[in-house]
Amino acid sequence: MKKLIVLISGSGSNLEAISKACSEGIINGVIASVISNNPNAYGLERAKKNNLSYKVINHKKFENREKFDEELSNYISSIEPDLIILAGFMRILGKKLSDKYFGKIINIHPSLLPKYPGLDTHERVLKNNDSFHGISIHYVSSELDAGPLIAQGKFQIKNNLSEEELKEKIHKIEHILYPKIIKEICDDRIHLEGNKVIFKNLKSSNNIIYENYDL
Ligand code: GRF
Repeated sequence: MKKLIVLISGSGSNLEAISKACSEGIINGVIASVISNNPNAYGLERAKKNNLSYKVINHKKFENREKFDEELSNYISSIEPDLIILAGFMRILGKKLSDKYFGKIINIHPSLLPKYPGLDTHERVLKNNDSFHGISIHYVSSELDAGPLIAQGKFQIKNNLSEEELKEKIHKIEHILYPKIIKEICDDRIHLEGNKVIFKNLKSSNNIIYENYDL
């Protein structure tokens, strides 16, 4: 069974979906620790409710990013995880940390990367009158939201949707696709070689798994 670490900063709905897939035996993995940089993250309540061990590493208590990263890195090393999952983790990891764990850290981002890295993706999608929106799952590199892509889930924006409605649809896709991809990684059907994502016996086009959702 693979040892997982999940990093959060907020609501933790993705953490909840991943935890459910682990306890149902869909993901061949166990969440060894949940880490939050935010002591007030609602995700910590979800961790408690699901009997997951958790740790708060409050970035505000550190002099600078390097010191925070160092603490985070030491704690992660002590657990020796197979996979580090960023699930709404709102801190940018420094190069040292992302290099150290390259190929072992994945992130979920609420846009069809390379479109809209960074924040406020739903707002930007609406502003640009985009016809499609979606989510991306990728390996984390030292560049923000730009590491090798693993999967994307896409939907058509049919009506005049509000930002809140877009967010709801994005979450629906995330809660399906993130556990699915984590399962494949834990079953050794997805891994990284250099900068290339390798899929074993999985349907991918242009080296990405694409899913279209009718929401
Ligand atoms: C998700 O939309 C994820 O894509 C983004 O932050 C949000 C986290 O949601 N990185 P939650 O904390 O898992 O509910």
